[in-house]
Amino acid sequence: MTTPLLQGKTGLVFGVANDRSYAWHIASALIAHGARCAFQHLPGDKNERRTRMACEKIEGAGDLTLYPCDASKDEDLDSVFDAYTKKHERLDFVIHSIAFADREWLSYGKFTETPREAYLSAIDISAYTLAAMAHRAAEPMKATGGGSILAMSYYGAEKIVPGYNVMGVAKAALECTMRYLAGELGQHNIRVNTISGGPLKTLASSAVGGIGAMLESTPIKAPLKRNVEGADVGGAAVFLVSDLASGITAENIYVDCGVNAVGV
Ligand SMILES: NC(=O)c1ccc[n+]([C@@H]2O[C@H](COP(=O)([O-])OP(=O)(O)OC[C@H]3O[C@@H](n4cnc5c(N)ncnc54)[C@H](O)[C@@H]3O)[C@@H](O)[C@H]2O)c1
Repeated sequence: MTTPLLQGKTGLVFGVANDRSYAWHIASALIAHGARCAFQHLPGDKNERRTRMACEKIEGAGDLTLYPCDASKDEDLDSVFDAYTKKHERLDFVIHSIAFADREWLSYGKFTETPREAYLSAIDISAYTLAAMAHRAAEPMKATGGGSILAMSYYGAEKIVPGYNVMGVAKAALECTMRYLAGELGQHNIRVNTISGGPLKTLASSAVGGIGAMLESTPIKAPLKRNVEGADVGGAAVFLVSDLASGITAENIYVDCGVNAVGV
């Protein structure tokens, strides 16, 4: 029998809101390949219940470890990483699959009006938090010879996607943050990458004005003639967390059925 690809690897997954979340698909794939995951949820009993119910559906998840964390708060991030490192001997990966922007500003025609507060909070929660997590992950990862940090991005970081608006700005910041983190952490064998995922129906994407149009146009335009599925992203995450990707860092990998490569 072959050894599972991620056997012995343990890490933290941020962003399981329910069983449609990209984080849920990523965690399911990591666990199916032998990894162990601890999970973050937004503070509050209702949020904890929602995340727990979703994680209980993951085959092989075992006894669940869940940590409350509003990633816009430094003290919450400190307590997740402190609690995690007290309980676990190693931190091999961190999955950053969180984002937030006030939906009021996520429709066509609204970008020009985006208030300062909405702009800054989108960048704070959706991009700065990657640096904040990497900062806290670096020491425990160094202690065991390295690790893999992975965040979820979208093509709206690079091109105008009507309605994606300030979230596109935040994703550009996220991808750039990923590269600078990779530049500094590579010397410790800590790899940092993003996956640019195709549109998927989730809580977060329902806030984006243009999501319906993206889901309709992808099967027509994309080389694979279909929309992406959570498992497509899960598989890429398994690869990027695994030692098969030992030479890959500072990279943005498209998992979007090829739609980013289409000109017209
Ligand atoms: N669904 C898509 O079409 C799509 C496409 C490409 C990239 N993405 C990205 O994938 C990631 C996951 O989104 P999703 O689509 O799975 O939606 P989702 O709603 O399932 O997940 C978003 C998560 O962000 C968390 N979050 C929001 N504010 C937070 C905060 N202050 N602190 C901690 N957590 C917070 C939510 O609790 C939730 O778990 C996001 O980065 C999103 O931008 C989504």
